[in-house]
Amino acid sequence: MDQLMIEGGTRLCGELRASGAKNSALKIFAAALLGDEPVTIGNVPHLRDITTMIELLGSLGVEVVMDEKMNIEIHANTIKRFTAPYDLVKTMRASFNVLGPMLAHYGQAEVSLPGGCAIGSRPVDQHLRGLKALGAEIEMENGYVKAHANGGLKGSHIYFDFSTVGGTEHIMMAATLADGETVLENCAREPEIVDLAECLNAMGADITGAGTDTITITGVKSLSGCRHDVIADRIETGTYLIAAAATSGKIKVQGAKHDHLEVLTGKLKEAGAEISVGDDWIELDMQGRRPRAVSLVTAPYPGFPTDLQAQIVALNCIAEGTGTVRETIFENRFMHVHEMKRMGAQIRLEGNNTTANIEGVCQLKGAPVMANDLRASVSLVIAGLIADGTTIIDRIYHIDRGYEHIEEKLRNLGANIQRTSSG
Ligand code: UD1
Repeated sequence: MDQLMIEGGTRLCGELRASGAKNSALKIFAAALLGDEPVTIGNVPHLRDITTMIELLGSLGVEVVMDEKMNIEIHANTIKRFTAPYDLVKTMRASFNVLGPMLAHYGQAEVSLPGGCAIGSRPVDQHLRGLKALGAEIEMENGYVKAHANGGLKGSHIYFDFSTVGGTEHIMMAATLADGETVLENCAREPEIVDLAECLNAMGADITGAGTDTITITGVKSLSGCRHDVIADRIETGTYLIAAAATSGKIKVQGAKHDHLEVLTGKLKEAGAEISVGDDWIELDMQGRRPRAVSLVTAPYPGFPTDLQAQIVALNCIAEGTGTVRETIFENRFMHVHEMKRMGAQIRLEGNNTTANIEGVCQLKGAPVMANDLRASVSLVIAGLIADGTTIIDRIYHIDRGYEHIEEKLRNLGANIQRTSSG
């Protein structure tokens, strides 16, 4: 099994390019199942989760053609089977989102209930409630959701009980081919939802309001193909900015959209960073200073992203002062804390493990640690970068799900990081 070995203590300095957004690309792959013609997706990151999605489409018999630049062409009408198997869906929750598109386009779908990161129970009740409201008949059998829509889906008015990114995307996709108008209320507003809506509209869908809490979809008879480039990954960009701040460094991320990260750059300014932005870049300069601790509460977009919470906890570990980080999206998302404590971090979990109180220390000490979910693992990379001595991170397959060429990107910024195999 691969490990990452980091010799801490170097400042991250230099330039890097943001990769395409994993969470956008995965949903756009699912959306391609709605089209009668090939959909070509560009700026796709080279990641384990993307490979899993390609395998899933392949298992349905769908033709997926990839060129050397990772442009991916998906031709839905080559589909031969309508069952997404447990083995693939269990490793990645986003694959559950093929259910709605298959159902809307072909009137049937059978998809295993999902797995994904070990960050809480993550049910799919809002997805299923939405599909039922569109007229789907749904049964659960042996861990599979079996759905039918004989005669097609019908437009409806749906109010989500709370903000759900996957739920909003799933029902928005399914409603594109429904008969009549669908109004979705209390929608999530993440940039990836807007990106997905833009791709669907380029395929001929009629969606307005994506990025606000009310989305209106007027069903169309069929969708065609299109070419769509996914947006930059705001979580990857944010992770590198936090890593640079934690190491008192200076970096410029090319291809990044500041509009998507204002809440983070606000926090990084509080931590002492100077931030400059352009149309498609963000630069952070700590001028060699130690960061100040920051406090935050995670919230749906435009609030502070839960996917950047663990990275800020890492920064706070060596910051000046005390920071409080409260997690409100997932119930089990402080697993990195136990590993950071092994590196000498002073962290107290409170409020039934929903809040971390972090008292900055001058230095962490390198240690063997274990990654246990995607964002927790990358926060351990940041901890390793700021620690004194060697940190060995085990189970890094989690990192490979979401961070393209992470060692190469960090090495280009001056980090001393290597991938090794424990055999
Ligand atoms: C997506 C992102 C993930 C991010 C999360 C929140 C992808 C592939 N993943 O996950 O990186 O951390 O948004 O920004 O895009 N919930 C229910 N019932 C449902 C749906 C969700 O109870 O039917 C709960 C979840 O357990 C969680 C909360 O709602 O506590 C938010 O989940 P949701 O926004 O749906 O996250 P995902 O789409 O799974």
